[in-house]
Amino acid sequence: SAQNDQIRRLTMVKEQNRFPSCIIFGVSKGGTRAVCEYLKLHPDVVAPSDEIHFYDNLTLQKEKGVDWYLRQMPASKPNQITVEKSPDYFQHPQSARLIYETNNCTKLLLLLRDPVERLISQYMQLVEKNPSLPAFEEWVIDPITGEVNVKHPSVMVSAYSQYLGDWLSVFPRDQIHIIESDSLRVHPLEEMKIVEEFLKIRPYFTEGDFYFNVSRGFYCNRIRATGKTKCLGKSKGREHIPVKSEILERLHKFYLPYNQELNRILKMKFPWS
Ligand code: A3P
Repeated sequence: SAQNDQIRRLTMVKEQNRFPSCIIFGVSKGGTRAVCEYLKLHPDVVAPSDEIHFYDNLTLQKEKGVDWYLRQMPASKPNQITVEKSPDYFQHPQSARLIYETNNCTKLLLLLRDPVERLISQYMQLVEKNPSLPAFEEWVIDPITGEVNVKHPSVMVSAYSQYLGDWLSVFPRDQIHIIESDSLRVHPLEEMKIVEEFLKIRPYFTEGDFYFNVSRGFYCNRIRATGKTKCLGKSKGREHIPVKSEILERLHKFYLPYNQELNRILKMKFPWS
């Protein structure tokens, strides 16, 4: 009928690309893909399938601009929110201000993982891409000084307090929700319920959406509509190389002051901090 046509037209008009109301901005190897994929199961959430890397890429910003960024977002209905995840925004100091300028209501999700575990995880990713990388211990310890090699950006990303200050100087604290990575890994349902509250989306997740996949060693999802199961790709949950306890101790010692500063600025305490 004509009325139905009009309703269809109106709802179609309202389906449009929107700037993210939530950005998962870090940290790399913190479980950012897991949170994003869990969120995408929620009927009120849309998210691009890839990382957009807009706010950490000056060339993209200059040459393409925010209109391009907006076009990367999937169309959403008025009752849906758009989520983007680009974990490298975290360590790019200008990202916070730029995101704020685009949409000062953006809610931010940050995953923080044991800094040493995060570093090893990143190393596993780097070495898979570049098998000629030195062994972890040689890579992480500067051969000249014998100290932790601070020249590797990956080493410094785990020094969370170095970057968090920038975000907190731009965004109100209550616009940033922090998830401890191990807690997400072990209690995905509980963590996602907290995320629903933070994002003010309707409570959707229940126990049936998650099941522990023994062979993967991680939680996977059961898709409601089809009953099929869905795990993250093979690049998530890589086996970590064993690291000598002496090196682990040095790394823990290296991160200690950063962890203490993190506790101080967040007034939080993490199992590893
Ligand atoms: P590892 O590969 O070191 O185990 P990111 O998506 O930010 O790159 O994070 C990858 C990490 O997500 C993995 O690190 C893994 O520990 C963690 N993770 C959390 N939940 C997961 C899940 N359900 N499936 C696979 N990996 C998960």
